[in-house]
Formats: sequence, C-alpha cells, structure tokens
Amino acid sequence: MKVYYDDKYIEINKNNKYFIYSPLNDKYIEINEKSKNLIDYIYNSNGNISINEIRNYFISKYNLDVCNDEINKFINKLIEVKILFASNNDMQIEKLNHIGYLKKLKQGNLKVAYIHATLRCNFNCSYCYNRTLINKDYKEFSTSEWIKILKKLKKQGVVKFIFTGGEPLIRKDLKELILSVKDKNTYIEVLTNGSLLKDQFYDLIDIVDKFTVSLDSFDININSKNRSDVNYYDIISTLKLFSEYNKDKILVRSVVNKNNIDDVEHFSKQLYEEYGIESTHGWFIPNNYSEIPLVPKYRKLENPSSIRPKNVNFISILNKLACGAATSIIALDPAGNIYPCQNLMTKELKISNILNENWYEELINSDITKLLSNLSVDDIEKCKDCSYRHICGGGCRAIAYKVYGSLTDHISYFCDFLQADAKDAIEKTKISCG
Ligand SMILES: C[S@@+](CC[C@H](N)C(=O)[O-])C[C@H]1O[C@@H](n2cnc3c(N)ncnc32)[C@H](O)[C@@H]1O
Ligand code: SF4
Ligand code: SF4
Repeated sequence: MKVYYDDKYIEINKNNKYFIYSPLNDKYIEINEKSKNLIDYIYNSNGNISINEIRNYFISKYNLDVCNDEINKFINKLIEVKILFASNNDMQIEKLNHIGYLKKLKQGNLKVAYIHATLRCNFNCSYCYNRTLINKDYKEFSTSEWIKILKKLKKQGVVKFIFTGGEPLIRKDLKELILSVKDKNTYIEVLTNGSLLKDQFYDLIDIVDKFTVSLDSFDININSKNRSDVNYYDIISTLKLFSEYNKDKILVRSVVNKNNIDDVEHFSKQLYEEYGIESTHGWFIPNNYSEIPLVPKYRKLENPSSIRPKNVNFISILNKLACGAATSIIALDPAGNIYPCQNLMTKELKISNILNENWYEELINSDITKLLSNLSVDDIEKCKDCSYRHICGGGCRAIAYKVYGSLTDHISYFCDFLQADAKDAIEKTKISCG
C-alpha cells in the first residue's frame, strides 16, 4: 500500500503528548507514543506501507501483536483526518483547496483606516519609517474637511480609526475629529509619542479606546538614541496619569533595535511593576537594505505583561496571514491619498484619493489591492515549501517592499527570525486534537 503526506510535516512533543502537524492543510492530530511510532514508520518508508513489516516492528519494539485490521483502521483514520492521503492527486487537491481557503481569509471589506491628519512631528526618531515624509511642507485639511472625510470612511464601513502621523497630537483638533465618528460601534486608537499628551489627557482619555504610546526605555540616554528627549519627563508623568486614571487604555510600544535590545525586557518589567502598564515589542523594520545591520540578532524577548495571547490555537495563528493591507486596511496621508497600509505610503503605491467620487471603486479595483489580496505565502518561491509558512505568513509585505523592492519578495534577512518566532508560537500554542 502507498500513502501520501506532506513531507514537511512537524512532529511536536509537548507535555509527553505527541502531535503531528501537516503544513499543506494546517491539520494536526494528537497521538500516543505507539501511534507516533507507527507514523514515523510510514514517514521513514516514504509512505510505502507493508502491513507485515509494521506487525514485526510492533512485536520487536513492544512485544505486541497488532492485527491487520487495527493497523488498517488507524491508517484509514489518518486518511480521514487528512494527515495521510490515498493518492497524490487527493493531496494536491487538498493543498489547492487550503490555499483558496487562506486567500478567502484575506478578502473582506474595509474596516480599518490609519489617519495621518498630519505628518508634522516634534521628534526626529532615527528609525522612523515616515522620516522622509515628516515635516515636509504639506497642506493639511482643515478640521471640517477631515470630519467630512472621516464620516465618508465610516459610511463605507470603517469601524476602527487609528490616528497616527507624524505626531497626531500636534493638531489641536484631534478631540473634534474623534468625536465626529465616535459611537459605540467605532474603535478609536491613537498612536503617539506621548510628548504632548499630558495637556490633552483629560480631553481625550474617555473618548479614545486605546493609546499606543511609543517609548523605548526609561533610560533617557538609551531612549534618545532611538527617539528624542523632547518632553521626555512629560511622557513619564503621562504614564503616571494613565496608571492612576485608567491603565487599561494604554499600551506602551517599544521598537527593538541594537540600541535597546539589552534594556527592553528590563524596561517592560519596570513599566509593569511600577505603573501596572502593559507593553509590547515591535522589532525594528529597516527602511532599506543598508539598514539591515541595525536589526539585532534574534532572541526570545520576555515580556511580563505581554499582550500576546498565551494560549492560541493554530486557527488563530493562521489569521496572521490575513494582514488586510489594501483590503480591510487602508492608510490616508494629509492630502487624502490612499495607500495599502501605514508602512507603505510611497508614491508608487498610491491607490486613490478620498476626495475622488469613486475612491472606493478605485480602491477595490486597483492592481495593488488585487495583488495584495491574492498574494499568499504559498506563492513566494522560497516560502512555498517551508513547514512554518502558514504560521509565519512569510513576514510583512511592507518589509519585503522596503528592503528588497518588491511586495512579493522573500524576506531573507528576517527568515531565521520568523522561523524562530513561528517555532515559539507553536510552543505556546494550545493544541487540541483537531
Ligand atoms: C510612525 S509612528 C507615528 C505615531 C507617533 N509619532 C509615534 O511615534 O508613536 C508609529 C509607530 O511606528 C513605530 N516605528 C517607526 N519607525 C519604525 C521602524 N522602522 N520599525 C518599527 N517600528 C517603527 C514608532 O515607534 C511608533 O510606535
Ligand atoms: S515620533 Fe513617531 S512620527 Fe515622529 S519621528 Fe518618531 S516615530 Fe516618526
Ligand atoms: S519567511 Fe522563512 S520561516 Fe517564514 S515562511 Fe518564508 S521561508 Fe518559512
């Protein structure tokens, strides 16, 4: 008998239980040690099964005579749950169906808008992905013009507005802008450097669902290597305000690069212990190929307040693939130009302008949208046979574009990191028989 299987399978041994994960269709099963040995036998024999050999193997290894029926039943079960396939054709069909299913996950309606009402900034962070855009002499829309735009987005189905920039608090009308779309069905997030928040704290705290405050260290020298020391102590006193008033509304986000990698875990710990504030680590994204050396060597970072779900299952991991750029997510610059995401605001990737009467049709029909929404990790040559591809997703497409010049490139400099992260995700995954 010959059976077929994904030869990039992963075997996981967790808490003395065995799991087999099949990357081509993201199926996984929990098995006992004997079943694991039987599967190993099948894999080691390249799917060529001799029932007699299996019986002899069980007699010699376990002193156990397993009858043909039992062996056949087990193999049929593996075929039924699609870990094994009766023919290569069945396996290829399953693979294609699964790619189609994953692509469908990416389809969806517009839900999230990154609003860059301003690209002015009072900082000049060394790593900023917007640094070629900030503090240029852009004409900005007035408050009433932005309100019209925000309402237009809301009418089209946007339920999450992320105010970013530049520094969004530089505009003194942020409260008005937020209030123009705020209701129980909208989620408002503000990405801020925190330096101007102290004065507007009480105006904004109750109307914003989440503030993501960027800060890289409590050590002003380390922080200033990455960011700026402008109003540094105001940022620290704002943390105190959050911790006293509502610490659930703040998430501190640190960008990890060579300057702060040795401090960032200590920083998270201190934030949590002294202020009760949660933090997250975002790995530094090089703005071009020459910045790759600024990325530290991968290592697991401990975060006592990590917001990452501790127990995730494979299906929730798969959502990582559906980044949503240009489909469920867009970014708007101060002139109303529409881009696939906040990290891809370049001239060549401009999709439309919100002032155009047909902006939504232009968005959904644009070649960039079609490319991004149809792109799957299985289309990336160097990823398509990787065991971790559906957990890793091939990495952020903005990184591929910035570093290698194409939305579809393999992110080689980050591949080891992504693979280690995928392994880490498997370790943290709550696996149940499925
Ligand atoms: C561009 S800023 C805009 C909002 C605000 N000015 C701030 O600093 O939070 C948005 C987020 O992107 C992060 N960021 C900027 N450049 C980055 C890069 N090259 N890699 C990773 N994150 C970056 C910032 O630290 C910040 O958390
Ligand atoms: S504060 Fe934000 S927008 Fe300003 S330079 Fe730094 S990362 Fe960029
Ligand atoms: S980036 Fe690397 S780890 Fe991720 S899917 Fe591609 S080859 Fe695999």
